[in-house]
Amino acid sequence: MVYTSVIFHMVTMILLYLSSTGYSLTPIVEDIFLEKPGGDVLQINEFTKKSVLRELPILDGNVIKTNVPADAKLDFNGLAAKYGHPCEEHYVESEDGYVTKLFHLPGDRKRPVLMMHGLFDSADTFIIRGNRSMAISLANAGYDVWLGNMRGNKHSRRHVTLNPDKDPEFWNFSYHEMALYDLPATIDYILGHTGQTRIYGIGHSQGNNIFIAMTAMLPQYNKKIRVFISLAPAVHIENIKLPTKILVLLSPLINYLFEGIGNEEILPDGAILQRLLQKVCPLGLPGYVLCVQLILFQLAGYNTAELEQEFFPIVLGHSPSGTSRKNLIHLAQSGKYKRFAYYDAGAEENIRLYGRKEPPLYDLSVVTMKVAIFAGNNDKLVVLKDTARLRDELTNVVEYRVLEPRKWNHLDFVWGRNANKFLFPYIFKLLQKY
Ligand SMILES: *[C@@H]1O[C@H](CO)[C@@H](O)[C@H](O)[C@H]1NC(C)=O
Ligand SMILES: *[C@@H]1O[C@H](CO)[C@@H](O)[C@H](O)[C@H]1NC(C)=O
Repeated sequence: MVYTSVIFHMVTMILLYLSSTGYSLTPIVEDIFLEKPGGDVLQINEFTKKSVLRELPILDGNVIKTNVPADAKLDFNGLAAKYGHPCEEHYVESEDGYVTKLFHLPGDRKRPVLMMHGLFDSADTFIIRGNRSMAISLANAGYDVWLGNMRGNKHSRRHVTLNPDKDPEFWNFSYHEMALYDLPATIDYILGHTGQTRIYGIGHSQGNNIFIAMTAMLPQYNKKIRVFISLAPAVHIENIKLPTKILVLLSPLINYLFEGIGNEEILPDGAILQRLLQKVCPLGLPGYVLCVQLILFQLAGYNTAELEQEFFPIVLGHSPSGTSRKNLIHLAQSGKYKRFAYYDAGAEENIRLYGRKEPPLYDLSVVTMKVAIFAGNNDKLVVLKDTARLRDELTNVVEYRVLEPRKWNHLDFVWGRNANKFLFPYIFKLLQKY
C-alpha cells in the first residue's frame, strides 16, 4: 500500500515534470554543482533557462532566486537575539573528554528547563519557529531555558584530545555515551550555575533515549528531574512504518558499507547532500513537493498543515546535523531486536564488554522520575503502539497524551506551525504543576 502510493507519487511527479518541460533534469543538477559558493542564487545556463525553468516564477534574469528567508541564514545565536532573548554559549566537558555546547536563554534561575533534540538534529530545532518556537515561548514565559547538543553534531564536534576530522575514535559513541557522560555532566553544570537541585527536562525523539537511559544507568539522577516531558520518544521503534523500516532492517548492511569506506560521521553540516538539498528544496512549489511531500513526509508522516512551503527553507538552513555511524546503528538495533538495550557489538565483543552474548537491557524499573509522554497520531517513526509500550514499562508516568490533530507527525512536535496551540499549553501546565 505504502509502496504503491510512493511509487505512484514519484511516477506522477516525474511525468508531470517531464511533460511540462520536455527536457531532462540534468542541466539543473549541473547548474547546482557549478554554482559559486556563498550566494542564494544559482547561475544557470541558457539551455536550462529556455527550457526547464521557462514557466517557473523563480527565474530572474540569469539566476534562480531560491528565496532563502532571513531566518534560514541566522544561526542559533542570531535567532535568539532576533526573537528577544540574546543567548549565552556554555561548554560542558564530560568525563570521557567530549565538549558539548549548551545554549542558554537566561530567565528565572529557579526554573531551569533543559531541552534535548533528536537524531540528525541540534538545539536549533527548538528555536527555528522563532516567536512560535518552544525555546522562545518558554523564555517569554520567564523560564531559564537551556538547550543541549549531542556530541558529534555541528555544535559539539569537540574533544579535549581527539580531532573529529582526523581521529576515527572520536566517532566511537552512540546515545549510550551521551546518556552516561554528556547528559549528567550537563545537568550538573546547569544545577551548579543556577544553584538549584532540580531541572525540568524536555526531549524530542532520540533526545528521550538519552534521558531515559541516563536515569536507568545512574538512578541518582531521577531526583534531579522535576518532570521529564517526553515528545515522540524513539525508545521503542519496532513498529516503525515503511519506508524507514527498510533502513532499520538493512542497518547491518548499511553499517558494513559505511564502515568499509571508513565513514564514521554521518550527514555532517555542509555535506554534499545537505548542500544539494539546500539548493533544490527551496525552489518554490516543485522543491516543496519533491523534498517535503515525496521524501520527508514519507519518513515522518504526511502533514502539510504544520510544515508549510515557506517554512521549509528555514528547516534546511539548520538541519540535518551530523551524528556518528554507531549512534545510528544503535538506534536501528532497538527497532530490529524490539528492545531498549545497550549497544550490540556482536557476540564476541559483547562478552568482553558485558560478560554475556546479548547486550543488557536498560533497566526501566529504576527510572522513577515523573514522565509525561506525548504522541502523534500520524507519527510514522514512533507509532502509538510503541509509545504505549514505553508508557507501560515506565513506573511513574504522570501523563500520556496523544495530541488531538489527526495528522500530527514526528516532526510537528518541534517544527509544527501550530505547536504553540496544540502542544505548548500542556507543557506549560506540567511545568507549573511540578
Ligand atoms: C515576536 O513577538 C513579539 C510579541 O508579540 C513582537 O513584539 C516581536 O516583534 C516579534 N518578533 C519578531 C522578530 O517577529
Ligand atoms: C569503542 O568503544 C568501546 C567502549 O565503549 C570499546 O570497547 C571499543 O574498543 C572502542 N572501539 C574502538 C575501535 O576504539
